[in-house]
Amino acid sequence: MRCIPWLLLLFLSLFGATECGISSQWDECNCIWQEWEAWGDCDSECNGRRRRSRQVSLYSNVPGCVFEFNTCATNDMGWDYSSCNAFCHNGGTSNSYSCSCITGFYGACCGFQVNCGDPGSITNGNLNGGTFTYGSTVTYTCHTGYRLVDGSSSRKCELNAIWTGTKPKCAYYNSCASGPCKNGATCTNIPDDYQCACTYGWSGKNCDVDILPPVLTNCSSDKYITISKLTDLVEWQIPSFTDSHNFRIDVTANYLTNEFTFPWGDFNVSYSAVKPSNGLSTDCLFGVSLRPNPCTPINPPANGALICNNWRTDYGQFCTFLCKESYAVPRGVIIDDFYVCGASGSWTPTNTIPDCSVMVTNLQSTTGYNIGPTYSNCSESSDNHRETQEFYIEKLSQSDFSYFCEKFQEECIPENVSVQC
Ligand SMILES: *[C@@H]1O[C@H](CO)[C@@H](O)[C@H](O)[C@H]1NC(C)=O
Ligand SMILES: *[C@@H]1O[C@H](CO)[C@@H](O)[C@H](O)[C@H]1NC(C)=O
Ligand SMILES: *[C@@H]1O[C@H](CO)[C@@H](O)[C@H](O)[C@H]1NC(C)=O
Ligand SMILES: *[C@@H]1O[C@H](CO)[C@@H](O)[C@H](O)[C@H]1NC(C)=O
Repeated sequence: MRCIPWLLLLFLSLFGATECGISSQWDECNCIWQEWEAWGDCDSECNGRRRRSRQVSLYSNVPGCVFEFNTCATNDMGWDYSSCNAFCHNGGTSNSYSCSCITGFYGACCGFQVNCGDPGSITNGNLNGGTFTYGSTVTYTCHTGYRLVDGSSSRKCELNAIWTGTKPKCAYYNSCASGPCKNGATCTNIPDDYQCACTYGWSGKNCDVDILPPVLTNCSSDKYITISKLTDLVEWQIPSFTDSHNFRIDVTANYLTNEFTFPWGDFNVSYSAVKPSNGLSTDCLFGVSLRPNPCTPINPPANGALICNNWRTDYGQFCTFLCKESYAVPRGVIIDDFYVCGASGSWTPTNTIPDCSVMVTNLQSTTGYNIGPTYSNCSESSDNHRETQEFYIEKLSQSDFSYFCEKFQEECIPENVSVQC
């Protein structure tokens, strides 16, 4: 509790009021207050307190009164306080002995402002906005030909003294200006770079890599030819190789001209075109197959088996026959070793196999009939079937047509012999 200043006290004492803190000895010791001394310094820059002091003295020397402060008054009466520097900076509100600052300011007297500091400049661009205190906003812009990447175009200073977002960069955004995309490609700017969209047949970052192989037209299709001679002159259209990029094309072929006299068989004609500029090649490949004319099928004889080669029948057919057991060809009928289908497309010497029309019941009475080897069973599952096939291979190998066995040795085996009844 603060006590009442002494002028007031004097006034009050005239009216007989008693003052707090005054000693009971005040009157009998003739105490009187001395003048207040000067105010002391304010204890704070703002909203502070200061004090002053005073002394008492004894007006006259009364026996029994000790000359000291406590004889007259309590200690607190020697002090006086008042507020000082009663203000706050920057619009802060002064409360008793403290300031409450407005947002963005701090310090006992609100003397400091939140400041995020210079967020920094960027190369090839500008930092716009010169205040860096709380609530300030700065923006970044890039010079012509550059574009903002990787950051925030606008940043705000926050209460924690940190800028929002991150510092951006200005990337070069005009790389297409130098025309890096070749051969009609479309250029698109991207940060610090460009992208080319190539036209047909070009590739690579700058579309300057030719990825077009030679373009082939007029490549002949496979040719299947049947002839009645041993050879035939075959002609074909020369394939054409072109390049829309107009690079040189080198063509090689396995036949010197676009015609050749082929024997029976299968042949490949190939043209290969290469572009030396990029090493890409295109081939034209077609087959030429020459075969003798086919013959109409020949019928097995009555009561007999027709036995022929079942390999390479498109090159030729060599047939012979056997009569079934107990049957024979009539006397006088000519029997040929082989009935052959060749290039002519017809059977020689004849396309008719004689029938085994005569039944032989008594061998003794068959003199004069033409009885060669016979077979007992034409069924594929019978033991006799295999013998029949072996008979054929043996007979062919010893005939004038043995070359057909020698030429296709791997196929000239009993398994490849057909037996028809
Ligand atoms: C392909 O063949 C046709 C018919 O012979 C011809 O008219 C055409 O010009 C040929 N094309 C090329 C590219 O040579
Ligand atoms: C022809 O070419 C084809 C495919 O390349 C091949 O399989 C065949 O063996 C060749 N034929 C000949 C007779 O060279
Ligand atoms: C000849 O026989 C072999 C083995 O049985 C078979 O693989 C091949 O296809 C046959 N060839 C013909 C032309 O019948
Ligand atoms: C031929 O042989 C098959 C199998 O061995 C048999 O089932 C069939 O009866 C035989 N035919 C004759 C006429 O012997």
